[in-house]
Amino acid sequence: MGEKEKYPFQNTPLPYAYDALEPYIDEKTMRVHHDLYLQAYTDRLNDVLKNCKPLQNMDLEQLIFAANRLPKAVGIPILRNAGGIFNHRFYFLGMCPSPQEEPSGDLKKAICKRFGSYGEFQKVFRAAAIAVYGSGYVWLGCGPNRSLEIFTTANQQTPFLQHFCPILNVDMWEHAYFLKHIQMRGEYVDDWFHVVDWEEAESRYLCIQKGGLYR
Ligand SMILES: [Fe+2]
Repeated sequence: MGEKEKYPFQNTPLPYAYDALEPYIDEKTMRVHHDLYLQAYTDRLNDVLKNCKPLQNMDLEQLIFAANRLPKAVGIPILRNAGGIFNHRFYFLGMCPSPQEEPSGDLKKAICKRFGSYGEFQKVFRAAAIAVYGSGYVWLGCGPNRSLEIFTTANQQTPFLQHFCPILNVDMWEHAYFLKHIQMRGEYVDDWFHVVDWEEAESRYLCIQKGGLYR
């Protein structure tokens, strides 16, 4: 996640080829999503920080937490664009070309305990994703007591300000699915489930259970 990365932020390359998630997430969507959308969030954050020397030593997470305490003219664009970078990186890194079919280990146990079964979890998560009104993300994460929850964030808001530690997110902005799935949001979520990196998700979950990863 670019630990301690600071201004000027770079649009780090995807850890897999643009077409690696085919046929579930198409190459053109990945190119547009990473090279245009994520690049734009990166450029806009750098533009804001260019004139804010005291903020140039902060990493992404620090900027997100600091934004609410800043004057709105600076705080709002920082929150939107630092959030956009965090949310997109988290989404891209939460997928991989040859994932295991479903979670395993402690995360699987926690999902079954909280939702009854992996299949039931998928149903609830899918319904939450379809229900997103406008643009946003649906997340699996841990609440303040470290139990699993499914929750939604609007636009480029991050889980931190809702006191959730994230494990997985699916991007429900139109640009994430429109080229391939048009308005079929449920089919997009079904396809996304085929490329979820459950090993990465479990390592995030275990970090949270040990009190690490994020505040
Ligand atoms: Fe996106």
